[in-house]
Amino acid sequence: MKRLVVGWAESTGLAKAIARKKGWKFSILDAGRFPDGEINLRFTCDVKGGEVYLVQTLHNPDERLMEVFFAAHTARELGAKKIVLIAPYLCYMRQDKRFRPYEAVSSRIMAKMMNSCLDGIMTIDPHLHRYKSLREIFTIESKTLTADGALADFIRKKLKNPLIIGPDAESYQWAKDVARMVGCEAIVLKKKRYTAKHVAIRMDKKLSFGGKSIAVIDDMISTGHTMAEVVKDVKSLGGRKIYCICIHPVFVNEAYGMLSRLGAKVISSNTIPHKTNRIDISDIIVKAL
Ligand code: R5P
Repeated sequence: MKRLVVGWAESTGLAKAIARKKGWKFSILDAGRFPDGEINLRFTCDVKGGEVYLVQTLHNPDERLMEVFFAAHTARELGAKKIVLIAPYLCYMRQDKRFRPYEAVSSRIMAKMMNSCLDGIMTIDPHLHRYKSLREIFTIESKTLTADGALADFIRKKLKNPLIIGPDAESYQWAKDVARMVGCEAIVLKKKRYTAKHVAIRMDKKLSFGGKSIAVIDDMISTGHTMAEVVKDVKSLGGRKIYCICIHPVFVNEAYGMLSRLGAKVISSNTIPHKTNRIDISDIIVKAL
């Protein structure tokens, strides 16, 4: 059966790398706009009878999601036998319960829409907090990959005398695993989020960070306020070499600038294209396909 990796203009780098490493054909998806802003989407090759791997990451998701739905339904209409979405960053996963009365549980709705048009989904380190597995919301085949090993490699190679910090309970899974792989200590802090931009971190004031390379690890940096609070506390306790390392560089507005101005070195994986990408996840996907 023919296998086809289909990439959007912005995901071409990753899609081409996957196609090259697998020896499969690459094809670009033409996702344009009509004058009124509506999506005008077109495959640029015949998908009939093939397995189609759509590669699109889903930060700032709404337009991208709509394009994914259009692409999946169109591939089906054009006779594709199997349609799988490779979304290195999966959106809406933090909306995993009704936090306020009458609120949408967006992750469930997003998954339902994907279940209706895809045969499978593959993603890297989705924000699994209240859900233990993607199977709780996806009825299609779902594959959860992790960039833990790649983060550990980076820390092992680049940081001298590392100490890993997880900013909150949710980051425990990543901080603990990466520390075990690196062979260093990990500290997990307590966080309280009041609003999107107001977070408080509780750190033991008796800690001392002199001489250590501090790697603050989180699955994502969004507004950057979680990382910023940790960086300020670490600096106040003598930490000098501070690395903010995330898997998904969502970076809302000034997040990256704010962390850089605090003197932290920001490092990310390329689940979302950004100038801080230093950790490549293409092999993780290739191995899983
Ligand atoms: C939440 O639990 C996540 O693991 C991250 O800590 C959070 O999403 C980061 O958000 P922000 O950068 O907006 O503080």
